[in-house]
Amino acid sequence: MKKPVIAIDGYSSTGKSSISKVIAQKLGIIHLDTGALYRGVTWFALQNCLNEDGTINLNELFSSLDQIELEFKNIENELVLFLNHIDISKQIRTNEVSDNVSLVAKQKEVRDFLLQSQRSLAEKGGIIMDGRDIGTVVLPNADYKFFLTASIDERTKRRYQELLGLGIQAEEQQVKENLLERDRIDSEREIAPLRQSEDATVIDNSLLTKEQTIDTILAYIQKI
Ligand code: DC
Repeated sequence: MKKPVIAIDGYSSTGKSSISKVIAQKLGIIHLDTGALYRGVTWFALQNCLNEDGTINLNELFSSLDQIELEFKNIENELVLFLNHIDISKQIRTNEVSDNVSLVAKQKEVRDFLLQSQRSLAEKGGIIMDGRDIGTVVLPNADYKFFLTASIDERTKRRYQELLGLGIQAEEQQVKENLLERDRIDSEREIAPLRQSEDATVIDNSLLTKEQTIDTILAYIQKI
């Protein structure tokens, strides 16, 4: 039997990736964190395509896209992101990347560059992909679609804890502003905006633990 294709979209810091990772383990399928790919391109741009004032030079990035090779490697059961054979899993979580990723992710050239590889990975089934446009654009025919949301205060708390866990210094207010700003840019962009697919099941997990959210999703999958 073909294994399922599952799309998980939603706002920043609703736990999409950590929840998807556990569901993938439970169902014996692959997990792809597509946000990490956009973060990887952003990290590349910050290293290689800057204007003199320190902002990203988008045209230089577009003409350098063919120099970017992003690859996930399974290391001790963790999918670790490599950019041109270098582990960048920690770098992509820095505030510098978080502050620039929405600008990079709204560019058509960047989205086109990442689209085909995301689709090819799902061709054989057996994948859970999390992002912003998975149910609407990348995998409109996914077997299951979920859209996660939570209050901004709860999301700020989670992101703040995640950064602390990674040893990255942050101020809660700054974390909150970054989340709101990213949500705004992600929702308002012209191409593949953050939007709930009409056929997605919406889960507000403000008051749910990670385990409860996982159980809710698994219950839907097993019921249908
Ligand atoms: O999930 P995340 O916070 O790591 O995603 C980082 C950024 O990448 C987010 O601000 C929007 C963008 N993104 C996107 O535009 N489309 C996706 N499928 C995944 C992420």
